[in-house]
Amino acid sequence: MIVTVPTTPFAGQKPGTSGLRKKVKVFAQANYAENFIQSVFDVVRPEPGAILVIGGDGRYHNRTVIQQAIRIAAANGYGRVLVGKGGILSTPAASHVIRKYGASGGLVLSASHNPGGPDEDFGIKYNIANGGPAPEGITDAIYARTQGIDRWLTVETPDVDLDAIGETAVGTMTVAVIDPVADYADLMETLFDFAAIRQAVADGLTATFDAMSAVTGPYAIEILEKRLGFPAGTVRNGIPLEDFGGHHPDPNMVHAKELFDTMFGPDAPDFGAASDGDGDRNLIVGKARFVTPSDSLAMLAANAHLAPGYAAGLKGIARSMPTSAAADRVAQALGIPLYETPTGWKFFGNLLDAGMATICGEESAGTGSDHVREKDGLWAVLLWLNILAVRKISVDALAREHWALYGRNYYARHDYEALPTEAADALMSELSASLSTLPGKAFGPLTVAVADSFSYLDPVDGSTSANQGLRVLFEGGSRIVFRLSGTGTEGATLRVYLERFEPAGGELDRETPDMLSDLIAAADAIAGIVRHTGRNEPSVIT
Ligand code: G6P
Ligand code: ZN
Repeated sequence: MIVTVPTTPFAGQKPGTSGLRKKVKVFAQANYAENFIQSVFDVVRPEPGAILVIGGDGRYHNRTVIQQAIRIAAANGYGRVLVGKGGILSTPAASHVIRKYGASGGLVLSASHNPGGPDEDFGIKYNIANGGPAPEGITDAIYARTQGIDRWLTVETPDVDLDAIGETAVGTMTVAVIDPVADYADLMETLFDFAAIRQAVADGLTATFDAMSAVTGPYAIEILEKRLGFPAGTVRNGIPLEDFGGHHPDPNMVHAKELFDTMFGPDAPDFGAASDGDGDRNLIVGKARFVTPSDSLAMLAANAHLAPGYAAGLKGIARSMPTSAAADRVAQALGIPLYETPTGWKFFGNLLDAGMATICGEESAGTGSDHVREKDGLWAVLLWLNILAVRKISVDALAREHWALYGRNYYARHDYEALPTEAADALMSELSASLSTLPGKAFGPLTVAVADSFSYLDPVDGSTSANQGLRVLFEGGSRIVFRLSGTGTEGATLRVYLERFEPAGGELDRETPDMLSDLIAAADAIAGIVRHTGRNEPSVIT
């Protein structure tokens, strides 16, 4: 029996960089999640009998929204829902399950690296049949629908037991609770040389992986400890918790400090890594050697052919605009194209679908390939381990070798979080208006070559995405990018991306803050950061 529930629109249900993200208290209002999910289904109009995947990172409120989504799906004509046991599916695993079982799409419930709990964040993202986040055409239509919605559909039925693998009928629909790990772990075995990694472990390769009490725990335990033979305890914080143990499940120097302390301490293992709330980000640290995500993309691309899944070579590399140009030099050396996209994994989907790119990456700790349509934290960890195992080299030695060959892009991102929206908007519009006056101007030793607002023309579908960040490019290859985050849930976050290129033969072994000091000063002189925000320092440096 389908029940029609009358409703009225909520303002602000506009999906951002990665779906709709709000506080749990906002999502918990009557009709709020229901309106959004119904709007998704009204836009994508599933064929009768279509398959829908539902999974999340296990954060607080996950189970509530899964039960709501199952009922609404049943009332909207879906034939089958696949949901991970315990409501768990990492974002890359959800992408894989959508692709593997021919689903028409999926609901990924996560607020990624944001904290979880009754007073923290929640999110709903819709992914399409290719396994990737819905493109802007669809998210814009969903937003438009949320502004006109007057009813949502449901069925009256008891909650589905999410903790028992098996099938349950919900109206005419079947809900299958599946093992969230097995399909994903099997996929990883097809891409990487597990035998070589197992041998390296037997020969003494050591590692530590911090799952940050988030979704990757069960995946990492199965793959690293059970299938690859790393000793028990290699995975720390391996049990997913609804509040991530009270921490931010964000793998950076601030929130993964314990891991950094281990890796820079006297008993550091050979390899350290972490992932975020929903398992799509990665952090890579060697013994006393942090690898920036931009460098990681370049180093992985340069060595990917050592993994069976990439032995035939790469078709192309794609990176988001604020990501450093380190990968560009690898693409050039390999003689393959390099694509520069706006921030947001969804922009890689078309390139991957069209077979134009094989590996993609972002400065925001995301790396991935055409094996799924999301970035993939454990995939990056396994590709690193595969390369280290085959080359029998340390992370630090590999990094030094890479820079000696290609030069080094010193890189940092300064974030100014929870700014009043008006202050952040004023900074950006003033800067935007001044861009045309900047070329030729000197800031300390730096002279501006080009200043513009980044606009992307998708080479596959011909769509244009404008206003994707303000770029100030200096003579010699240094660069500052200014952008407002599209994933925050409180005020505005200003991101300032700083990059300085040092060619091969140059100063390759210096500390990043020293190498960026001129750029940091220039950023304030150009954009008036202190004047607009009243902040003398960024909230976080990554
Ligand atoms: C999410 C997206 C990424 C994006 C990141 C930062 O993780 O999946 O593609 O790079 O957010 O976005 P933001 O708009 O906050 O800089
Ligand atoms: Zn994430």
